[in-house]
Amino acid sequence: MSEQDKQDAQFTQMINRQLSRRGFLGATAALSAGAFLSLNPVAKAIAAASSPLIGFDAVPASTADKVVVPKGYQAEVLMSWGDPIFNGAPEFDPSGNQSSDAQAQQFGDNTDGMSFFQLSDERAVLAVNNEYINIDLMFAHDGKKLSADEVRKSQAAHGVTIVELARTGNGWQIDKGGKLNRRITAFTEMELTGPAAGHELLKTAADASGTQVLGTFNNCANGQTPWGTYLTCEENFHGYFGTEQAVELNDDYGRYGIKAKPSKYLWHSHDERFDVAKHPNEPHRHGWVVEIDPMDPSSTPLKRTALGRFKHENAAMTINGDGHAVVYLGDDERGEHLYKFVSKGKYIEGDNANNRSLLEEGTLYVAKFSMQPDALKGKGEWIELSFGKNGLDASNGFNDQAEVLIYARRAATVVGGTTMDRPEWVAVHPGNQYVFCTLTNNKNRGVKDNQPVGGPNPRSENHYGQIVRWSPAGGDHSSHEFDWDLYLIAGNPTVHQGNLYAGSDNINKDNMFNSPDGIGFDKAGRLWIQTDGNYSNEGNFAGQGNNQMLCGDPMTGEVRRFMTGPIACEITGLAFSDDQRSMFVGIQHPGEKGKPSHYPAGGDSKPRSTIVVVTRDDGGVIGA
Ligand code: FEO
Ligand code: CA
Ligand code: CA
Ligand code: CA
Repeated sequence: MSEQDKQDAQFTQMINRQLSRRGFLGATAALSAGAFLSLNPVAKAIAAASSPLIGFDAVPASTADKVVVPKGYQAEVLMSWGDPIFNGAPEFDPSGNQSSDAQAQQFGDNTDGMSFFQLSDERAVLAVNNEYINIDLMFAHDGKKLSADEVRKSQAAHGVTIVELARTGNGWQIDKGGKLNRRITAFTEMELTGPAAGHELLKTAADASGTQVLGTFNNCANGQTPWGTYLTCEENFHGYFGTEQAVELNDDYGRYGIKAKPSKYLWHSHDERFDVAKHPNEPHRHGWVVEIDPMDPSSTPLKRTALGRFKHENAAMTINGDGHAVVYLGDDERGEHLYKFVSKGKYIEGDNANNRSLLEEGTLYVAKFSMQPDALKGKGEWIELSFGKNGLDASNGFNDQAEVLIYARRAATVVGGTTMDRPEWVAVHPGNQYVFCTLTNNKNRGVKDNQPVGGPNPRSENHYGQIVRWSPAGGDHSSHEFDWDLYLIAGNPTVHQGNLYAGSDNINKDNMFNSPDGIGFDKAGRLWIQTDGNYSNEGNFAGQGNNQMLCGDPMTGEVRRFMTGPIACEITGLAFSDDQRSMFVGIQHPGEKGKPSHYPAGGDSKPRSTIVVVTRDDGGVIGA
């Protein structure tokens, strides 16, 4: 039996075990008193099993204001918000009075998705998203009124940071002299490419071509291509557009959350293109996946319209067996969808000119899951989002493919895509065809008519989240069919018993958490799970502590807690050195909303989003 076949057999066995326990449990039965989850002997067997993949001692839940990693590991600060990334750039000034010019030469705020590009044993490039700003920490006032330079500073703290790393006796450190170091911000020149480029809906007063756009912002998670580029994903772009004028905005603005009222970031107050009344097409130029060449600091970032416009979480790419590049894409909003892009062209190893055009053209699909309320596994299909097919024509308000892509959410609704519990990151297993997606939580499930309970979204008012896993038919990522099940259902077995709010059998009092968000595989196939959840440690969340990172065996279902973060942070962003002996993890927004964190410097210092490098005392592979 090949390794692949063995893994497949293990997977099938596990699904069968899960089904025998709970597969026929109805939604009504799920809320009744049967203690089927906690009392099941198989559950205990899984919890006690020791996966050969996972070799560290679990850490307990924590409410401490620090990063905790297992015995024999350390987590050291690599870079915090405001750290200079160029020689001669000013040091971080915590007063809130820094200039935009200073911020543009420093690491941006709210570190998120990141990718590691190894150049040699001692050199590497790290590309990191800077998702948004913490208004109360950015300024020396409450941020309710901003000067022009404060708007510019806010814009400069967004985007992407590219920085060279050097490995010395002290491990990986940033090299401020690195020639590839670059800040990409909300005002960096970019190009719109692909089927929607040049469309009427993308033309503005400043850009009659509909192809030249300034900036990227709210860059959540990421992707990395085998041809050496970085993908950064524009998520909550709507929050930067606003106006003081009373104008009517149609449903296509509403669907993306764009409102005719002042935005909280107030960019429209000094940068007119963010005034949606004056420049109604500017929002159409955001909400895309952007491809960046981190090896050429003079290169123009390219917004890839073929991948659709929505609130992109990450871009999980795999090269399919037949050579097509396949990208899985989540749209993180309650009741939005899960997508897949399949390139028209094929990947050719070493042919950069060919490979760098692969995200220009292809087919976008939306996922439709079987939705039986009593089944925690089933079938699914990918439905094509192409103009002229599946009702995507003038009868539903679409005039061409550009409109299908610009209004991808509306197109997904027309074709019957499944409304999901907020799809966050997707990760493709490095050794087999299984794909995993975090569905972080959804208070609207079972409350809003378009979000019925069932299928991969099995709980009403879902405040814990789950991870769905699917296998494309025949192991072919361009197939239109797949089988799915739930890898885990997060929950709290100390608060709830005998229903799905306790979580699936692989969740127990020692590894429980809520709101899975970032996920990624290492080379050995360990599944790393990061959380962005409720850190109150009370009520439904009692005993779960601060946000955290866990490690899962994707085949046996075992989950073990690896890291806990400081107060009021989210753990997000994950990358490894090629030897898997250094792991880069993002600690985002410690001390948000005035919570009492002073991470990382301690004392009475200002809390700062920070990347840490995790290593082992014995220099071994992380997680093994
Ligand atoms: Fe930026 Fe959906 O997280
Ligand atoms: Ca996220
Ligand atoms: Ca989240
Ligand atoms: Ca976040």
